[in-house]
Amino acid sequence: MNRHGLFKSNLKLPRLCTERLVCRLLEPHEATLMCSFRKENKTHLEKWEPLRKTAFFTESFWQAQLRVQLRDFREGVSTNFSILDRDELSIVGVCNYTNIVRGTFQSCQLGYAIAKRYEGQGLMEEALRQTNDFVFSELGLHRIMAAYLPHNHRSGSLLSKLGFKKEGFAEKYLKINGVWEDHVLTSKIKDR
Ligand SMILES: CC(C)(COP(=O)(O)OP(=O)(O)OC[C@H]1O[C@@H](n2cnc3c(N)ncnc32)[C@H](O)[C@@H]1OP(=O)(O)O)[C@@H](O)C(=O)NCCC(=O)NCCS
Repeated sequence: MNRHGLFKSNLKLPRLCTERLVCRLLEPHEATLMCSFRKENKTHLEKWEPLRKTAFFTESFWQAQLRVQLRDFREGVSTNFSILDRDELSIVGVCNYTNIVRGTFQSCQLGYAIAKRYEGQGLMEEALRQTNDFVFSELGLHRIMAAYLPHNHRSGSLLSKLGFKKEGFAEKYLKINGVWEDHVLTSKIKDR
């Protein structure tokens, strides 16, 4: 048991393969891959994400961060998937299941992003179908929550395709690119 009372000692690091993708946690020695993804997509992603410090775009930051991600997976706090192409030479995107809460809630929050050059090919849908299944069947969670900016129609369509249902609207919910922004709240429940 860890500080959150949710340690699963027998859970192996996931490696989920789809037709075009491999979804898995990166090891610290693969920091260069994540660093390249972040640098190449800085402009593409900044309007959808929190403000990033300069360090976020360095290899040393990602070496440390990937170590934290492995620890958090082992402790059952989060599962941060990198989505790679089938030869595992470049990062297509990321999908992060964070704030895992057990007890009567059994839920987590999902965030995701795809590289500009891979957008619009159904790749995020392909990845999330597989990773959502993992979260429900292997992590045993009951609810995955995701929030999107009202004008992010692409993200809204994606969630709806995946079976996420709108549950509400939260004013000034997340600080995106330095501004507290309203969000549409959605969630997907196991077996729905
Ligand atoms: C949102 C995002 C992950 C979608 O990834 P993707 O791989 O392009 O998604 P998919 O191709 O699987 O599906 C996108 C869907 O949006 C639709 N779409 C594309 N452009 C659209 C637009 N301008 N308006 C509405 N729908 C749009 C696509 O047609 C597709 O739906 P369909 O299959 O029913 O046609 C990607 O655009 C991204 O990373 N955006 C920047 C970061 C971000 O927004 N993250 C999410 C924060 S909530």
